[in-house]
Amino acid sequence: MSHDTQMTGRPVISATGLFTPADSISNEELVASFNEFVRRHNAAHADVIAAGEAEPLNESSVEFIEKASGIKSRHVMAKEPVLDPDSMGPRWAERSNDELSLMAEIGVAAARQALERAGRKASDVDAVLCAASNMERPYPAMAIEIQQALGIDGFGFDMNVACSSATFGIQTAADYIRAGNARSVLVVSPEITSGHLNWRDRDSHFIFGDVATAVLVEDAAIAPAAHWDILGTKLKTVFSNNIRNNFGFLNRASPEGQGKADKLFVQEGRKVFKEVVPMVAEMIVSEAERLGIDPAGLRRLWLHQANAGMNRLIAQRVLGHEANADESPTVLDTYGNTSSAGSIIAFHLHSDDLVAGDTGLICSFGAGYSAGTVFVRKAA
Ligand code: COA
Repeated sequence: MSHDTQMTGRPVISATGLFTPADSISNEELVASFNEFVRRHNAAHADVIAAGEAEPLNESSVEFIEKASGIKSRHVMAKEPVLDPDSMGPRWAERSNDELSLMAEIGVAAARQALERAGRKASDVDAVLCAASNMERPYPAMAIEIQQALGIDGFGFDMNVACSSATFGIQTAADYIRAGNARSVLVVSPEITSGHLNWRDRDSHFIFGDVATAVLVEDAAIAPAAHWDILGTKLKTVFSNNIRNNFGFLNRASPEGQGKADKLFVQEGRKVFKEVVPMVAEMIVSEAERLGIDPAGLRRLWLHQANAGMNRLIAQRVLGHEANADESPTVLDTYGNTSSAGSIIAFHLHSDDLVAGDTGLICSFGAGYSAGTVFVRKAA
């Protein structure tokens, strides 16, 4: 769809959607399977460990996970293989090209809910952005498959900005609307993080969960009355190796590196914590100032869901006092870190009670580093 510049629009969020996998893994279940893997590994390598030629693996602990991250459980697309000490990773049958692929399937489920909540027919949507930290394949784009499954006549493409993919997607969609190039854009974030998490790595095996979210960004002129005005969007990236995944299409050129730990998610968690908190807090405060918003008056923060301690510190710096659960809701306790979907889940589950005129902030941060802010105000 194309529009001339006289049709420039004012972007709003019309509705959101959420798909939550049925399977959930508690910390107790996760640690029991991890520790069984450790015991088997150490027993199988007892000779070299006794000879001092290899270090034994250490067990994980429920107490550490809850204290260090705030995560108590996470949803996954397939629980059994993740908990099986022999596989410790997701497993499902490969799908044929005629079947809807898995990322598209859960993206479509979230998108349908967003459309339904907005009272929008798919045929009235102009574009689909699939914004997520990993794509199931390089091409055809996941977004185009989702577009086709929903019956949307328009265009779609994939974008990956790791944990900030959804907010970058929202700004991109908002810019299409501001420029008059679209009036209704779906930003879909299917995050099958169980596929890039190293379930055998004690430092990170507890972090991620699977989910899909959708955000319908539209021109105010066509949006339902109960929408969220987008007051302003801001994006920031600063290169860092502290969260990295070296999986990619050039891996085949270096067979010696295939299957190594760096081909899955790896991070220096403590450095990330220390570097990202001040960067994000400062970004929120300066963007609020630019928009003429008093950060202390924000009704609610829907922050990226990676670590409860990070969110406590960021919310404290933004609001000027320790935030309560009403001001800065947590979903990572039951969802884990769902990468780009985290702040959108928080917004989806904890926004119905706000009233017209309430101002809030959707904020993401993560690998790249990347961070995005979307200030919103409830219209009705
Ligand atoms: N069980 C028990 N102990 C564990 C453990 C586990 N699963 N994992 C690590 N430990 C130990 C470490 O070995 C270390 O022991 P030591 O002090 O004897 O060396 C100790 O716990 C502290 O480890 P550390 O990695 O420094 O923990 P942390 O307090 O930094 O918490 C994270 C780890 C990952 C929860 C935290 O750093 C974090 O969430 N950071 C932000 C990450 C983020 O936002 N990433 C974005 C991803 S998209």
